[in-house]
Amino acid sequence: VNGAPLGRRSFLLLSSITILIVVTVAGIAIGLLYAAGIAAERQRLAEIVDIQTSVLASLARAADAGGGANGGEAGRRAVIAHVVGAADAFHRLGDSGELMIAGVDASGVHYLIPSRHTPAGTASLQDFQPMLRALAGETGSAVVTDHRGATVLTAFAPAPALGLGFVAKIDRAEIIAPYLRAGAIAAASAVVLIGLGSLLFFAITDPIVRRIAQAEARFRELFHSMGSGGLICEPVDDGGICVLRDINRAAERIDGVLRDTVLGCRLGTAMPGVARSAMGEAMERVGTSGVAEQVPPHTVEQGGVTSWRQGHVYRLSSGETVAVYDDLTEHKKAELTLRDSEARWRSIIELQNDAMIVVDKDNRIRFANRAAEIMFGKPTEQLKGIVFGYPVVVGDIAEIEIIQPNRRIAYAEMQAIPMRWDGEDHFLLFLRDVSAHRRAEGDLRKLFSAIEQSPASVMITDVQGNIEYVNPKFTETSGFTYPEVVGKNPRVLRSGKVDPEVYQDLWQTIGAGSVWRGELLNKKKSGELFWEQASVAPVRDARGKITHYVSVKEDITERKATEERLRLAQKMNALGELTGGIAHDFNNLLAIILGNLQLLDEMCDDDAEKHELIADAVWSAERGAELTNRLLAFARRQHLHPAITDVTRVIREMTVLLRRTLGERIDIREELARDVHKTMVDPGQLQNAVLNLVVNARDAMPNGGVLTITTENAAVEPGSDDTHHGVQPGDYVVITVGDTGMGMPADVTDRIFEPFFTTKKFGKGSGLGLSMVYGFVSQSGGQVTVDSRIGRGTRIRLFLPKATAAEVEAPRVERPPPPRSDGGHVILVVEDEDRVRKTAVRVLQKQGYHIVEAGSAGEALERVAKLARLDLLFTDVVLSKGMNGPDLAREIHRRWPDVRVLFTSGYAQNPLIGSGLPSGHHDMLPKPYRREDLTNKVRAMLAAERDSPG
Ligand SMILES: Nc1ncnc2c1ncn2[C@@H]1O[C@H](COP(=O)(O)OP(=O)(O)OP(=O)(O)O)[C@@H](O)[C@H]1O
Ligand SMILES: [Mg+2]
Repeated sequence: VNGAPLGRRSFLLLSSITILIVVTVAGIAIGLLYAAGIAAERQRLAEIVDIQTSVLASLARAADAGGGANGGEAGRRAVIAHVVGAADAFHRLGDSGELMIAGVDASGVHYLIPSRHTPAGTASLQDFQPMLRALAGETGSAVVTDHRGATVLTAFAPAPALGLGFVAKIDRAEIIAPYLRAGAIAAASAVVLIGLGSLLFFAITDPIVRRIAQAEARFRELFHSMGSGGLICEPVDDGGICVLRDINRAAERIDGVLRDTVLGCRLGTAMPGVARSAMGEAMERVGTSGVAEQVPPHTVEQGGVTSWRQGHVYRLSSGETVAVYDDLTEHKKAELTLRDSEARWRSIIELQNDAMIVVDKDNRIRFANRAAEIMFGKPTEQLKGIVFGYPVVVGDIAEIEIIQPNRRIAYAEMQAIPMRWDGEDHFLLFLRDVSAHRRAEGDLRKLFSAIEQSPASVMITDVQGNIEYVNPKFTETSGFTYPEVVGKNPRVLRSGKVDPEVYQDLWQTIGAGSVWRGELLNKKKSGELFWEQASVAPVRDARGKITHYVSVKEDITERKATEERLRLAQKMNALGELTGGIAHDFNNLLAIILGNLQLLDEMCDDDAEKHELIADAVWSAERGAELTNRLLAFARRQHLHPAITDVTRVIREMTVLLRRTLGERIDIREELARDVHKTMVDPGQLQNAVLNLVVNARDAMPNGGVLTITTENAAVEPGSDDTHHGVQPGDYVVITVGDTGMGMPADVTDRIFEPFFTTKKFGKGSGLGLSMVYGFVSQSGGQVTVDSRIGRGTRIRLFLPKATAAEVEAPRVERPPPPRSDGGHVILVVEDEDRVRKTAVRVLQKQGYHIVEAGSAGEALERVAKLARLDLLFTDVVLSKGMNGPDLAREIHRRWPDVRVLFTSGYAQNPLIGSGLPSGHHDMLPKPYRREDLTNKVRAMLAAERDSPG
């Protein structure tokens, strides 16, 4: 399309054509006019010639008729003169018009009136054809070339009467001249007019044409330059078929067709995919209905490729339908890619362990991921829209505390990043849950304070064994301060008394990554040795490499000592059991021996020698009984007579005795507290015990010294030093016997309470003294402690428990009245040891009692069943078969409620023996007993029976 649609060329072309046409038309018109002019001129010339000839002919006739023969010739001459005169008038024919008259004679043609342009008689007019033809009698006209060479129009006619020929002639140039002038003027006018007209036309039409052209070009360009595809179709066959009238470049590109190849083709042929698509259907509908339609995104299958389109279809006023559409394929792809990528990002974000939250300018939550749900304990839907109640600071990492709906507190580190969201300023918050870290920190703190306050020593060393940390307990136990040990080797604690193999084993075990456990005898800074139960474990870094060793140690010196004491106590117990058992059996034997000896004694009348032998045997048996009593004392099975006792008073009573025992070389110092607690002990045995201690002290100070006896109250607190020596917490009266003697080594101290343990020469000591003390004090509920240093002396303390209020207030049991024989009483004697039973039976029978005997409880019950009366049951506590003594007693008591029961036993009194029997109805006779002991006891009990109301 030309930018200057009607340029000079067009203008010239149009003008030239117009001029050509006008000139042609004018030429033809002028030619026609000219032809008509020539004809008219020819006519006029012919008429002039005709008139002239007629006139001359008439004149000639007239002249003939009037003058006869003479006259005739003159007349003719006159006529000819007239004619020539008249002929001059022909000059008015025009500039070149003339009338020539000529006659012929023998000399030839001679011109009466020759051409003005030629002097008369000029030979050149001789063969002037029109004249010749006129002279030849022809009348007519012709265009000929005259003697000048000019083309002339001639008319000729003869005047036979005069013998003249007439030729009227005029130059054709003169005839043409007005026509040429008119033509020239017309042509010039036409050119000017046409030029002007054209100019005017162009001046008027050019802008319009230009605008139209511009508009056309604009719309064409617009159509072709459109980004959207454009199709223009003409519906034919009532809209059933669309014929493509135009498609734009975008459509070419989108549909892969060439405009030139598809124009004029049917849409279904050129672009079958489009024709089949929603767009094609819409074009068909719009073609018939004329109602524009939007075509939503749809797919087009063309050439095996699927693409996405969207557009609209409308009808032009020309009846053509236009489809404008966009290719959404890329957009769709991008959308899919975006959706994919969004899904990917979403899943990445959702899978993040860190909570991610987007808040707007007003701190309202716009987005929260799953981790945020968990952190805040609320589903996303609840989180969205609520105000994020923490200040958002960009750049810094802030720590926030989140109270979850379940009241648990979570800790998070928060970082904020500015971001755009929906075109507005937002913040993206990253929240890292540091609760575990926080808790771990807390745990670490707790752990550290636990270690700092641990009752066990904790020491951490590097792999070389250099100490890096020790806890306060370590410094407390070892006596080394923190700076004194840090950086040092734990060797500083070595006592030198541990087998080197133990250390080797320790290092091998922990070096191999295992935990070593064992006991070590270590040395304090003070040099004091102490036992530690150690557990040494390797500490590994994240990669499993051993970096440190931790040793946790417990001071077990005390425990070791306790264990040792326990071992000793157990040994003592075992010894006690053993000793007790022997003593019991031995007592039975002695009881028989003594009883029989006494009976024998009675049988020997006055034989002094026999009496002496028997007395010796009785003495020996009694010494034996004493010995077994001491053993029973150690075994805590001696028969005690505990009473509320004032220890200070008891010892004060002994002072004289003690002075005598100690001799002059030993000073005795008494520090006896006045108001000591009352204690429930057997006072006789207490004196015995003190005496034993004093004798030992004397023996330990052969060269004299000081003996101290103190009595005092002591309240033993749990965990105090005394409890470490086996004393139970409680209130005690303490008797201390101290000397300044030789003291004892530890291995002796450990054994001094063992029966028969003595360091004294044979015959000097029995080794039972302290055993008795120990047994007595233990049996009384107390404890003995020893504290001895070689060369410095020994201190032995007796802890006797404070009597309970009930014990103090209990009424004193008065001694029964002196024994008195009373016959007629029935006594049941139950004893499984036949000899013992026989002895007892004989003794009692001698007193006049009626005796029923039994060897077992079963037998006893059988016998009792047949009795009419029973006053007293004398039974051993331990019976070998069936029931024991107390059970039997209760059984019999049920039948004989008033029966008295006397128990006998080789063991100490069991407080439960009399339970179930009325108080005062039973008593105890320890074995071995003398005859008098038995008879006195029986008599006393029967007397009490008599005194009692029942
Ligand atoms: N005060 C003391 N100082 C030093 N050693 C003592 C002291 N008391 C007891 N011992 C040691 O304890 C041992 C046992 O004492 P224990 O009283 O039991 O028997 P014994 O004195 O040797 O003989 P016994 O007391 O039967 O005559 C003594 O042999 C003695 O070695
Ligand atoms: Mg002794």
